[in-house]
Amino acid sequence: MAANRRSVLVTGGAGYIGSHAAKALSRAGYHVVVFDNLAAGHRQAVRYGDFVQGDIGDSGAVAAALKRYHCFAVIHFAAFLDVGESVRDPLRYYRNNVAGALSVLDAMVSQSIKFFVFSSTCATYGEPIETPITESHPQQPINAYGETKLAVERALPHVERAHEVRWSALRYFNAAGADPDAELGEDHSPEIHLIPRTIFAAIGADGLQVYGDDYPTPDGTCLRDYIHVTDLADAHVRALEALVETGKSGAYNLGTGHPHSVREVIDSVGRIVGRPVPWTVAPRRPGDPAVLYAAPQKAEAELHWKPRFADLDSIVRTAWEWHRTHPHGYGGK
Ligand SMILES: NC(=O)c1ccc[n+]([C@@H]2O[C@H](COP(=O)([O-])OP(=O)(O)OC[C@H]3O[C@@H](n4cnc5c(N)ncnc54)[C@H](O)[C@@H]3O)[C@@H](O)[C@H]2O)c1
Repeated sequence: MAANRRSVLVTGGAGYIGSHAAKALSRAGYHVVVFDNLAAGHRQAVRYGDFVQGDIGDSGAVAAALKRYHCFAVIHFAAFLDVGESVRDPLRYYRNNVAGALSVLDAMVSQSIKFFVFSSTCATYGEPIETPITESHPQQPINAYGETKLAVERALPHVERAHEVRWSALRYFNAAGADPDAELGEDHSPEIHLIPRTIFAAIGADGLQVYGDDYPTPDGTCLRDYIHVTDLADAHVRALEALVETGKSGAYNLGTGHPHSVREVIDSVGRIVGRPVPWTVAPRRPGDPAVLYAAPQKAEAELHWKPRFADLDSIVRTAWEWHRTHPHGYGGK
């Protein structure tokens, strides 16, 4: 424990984005305490700071960790994030994502912790009415996952009024890529994200299905905003520092503002891996909008944040380096 460094509790810090944020926080001089139940995370992904194994639903355990490590802030990543699963099993998602977040907030209130950075998502917007999406775009989720994240966002101003907890809700678009040093990367099971799945197809480890090639986009496939995980991690450090400095709560979109189609991702992976990517066309998935990308200007202006990995190839290159050097991911928990 580092009494003279400022400790931050990172729930879900053994997961994909949380582990990268732990590295960024540590590099910025914070003492990191990862709190994770390893439901989807990996002990080997915790390379920065201390590790507490526990469930966010256990408010007492969260409070004990906050107290033991003298934390002054919480960055809350722990959640489930599979949209399809959230539709099949909404109660599991409400329990972990909503009740779990409230349990963390309860623990914070019990320990008088005043700063909360929350992993939200572009899925809170639902079907876009206009693109690029600004923070004031209506939030009308079309699946249980998006609803759970919005429910937490909506609770935050109330918690702030009652308990003076300042918050930042970071609405990520599509997190992608891996730590440029290749010591951390994406290892979900099952893997639901396009770039790793395309890499697996390129090396012959799995098949790739493209859900619809008849969308009203230039090449018929969906357009998404891929944001590098290290850029996301950096935004968390900036959001925390802005909160402490200004005391101003708010929501921020985190994306590059430049959408790429599924076919562009496939082409990029083929180029970087150096092998053609076999793929087949499957029917559209219900609830997949044709185009989804961020207007990131608010984060740029208020958090002084600018993605360093702005082009798709540089994102894919870091993802490939991670998968090339870690063919079995973290190799078990
Ligand atoms: N990956 C994306 O593209 C994306 C996009 C938008 C938002 N998000 C949000 O970002 C956050 C992190 O996503 P990720 O891709 O790193 O996911 P991840 O599954 O890799 O990480 C989540 C971590 O939380 C932990 N966790 C889950 N439930 C827990 C509980 N009850 N108690 C303790 N730990 C628990 C898991 O073990 C895992 O380590 C999530 O809140 C997700 O909704 C992700």
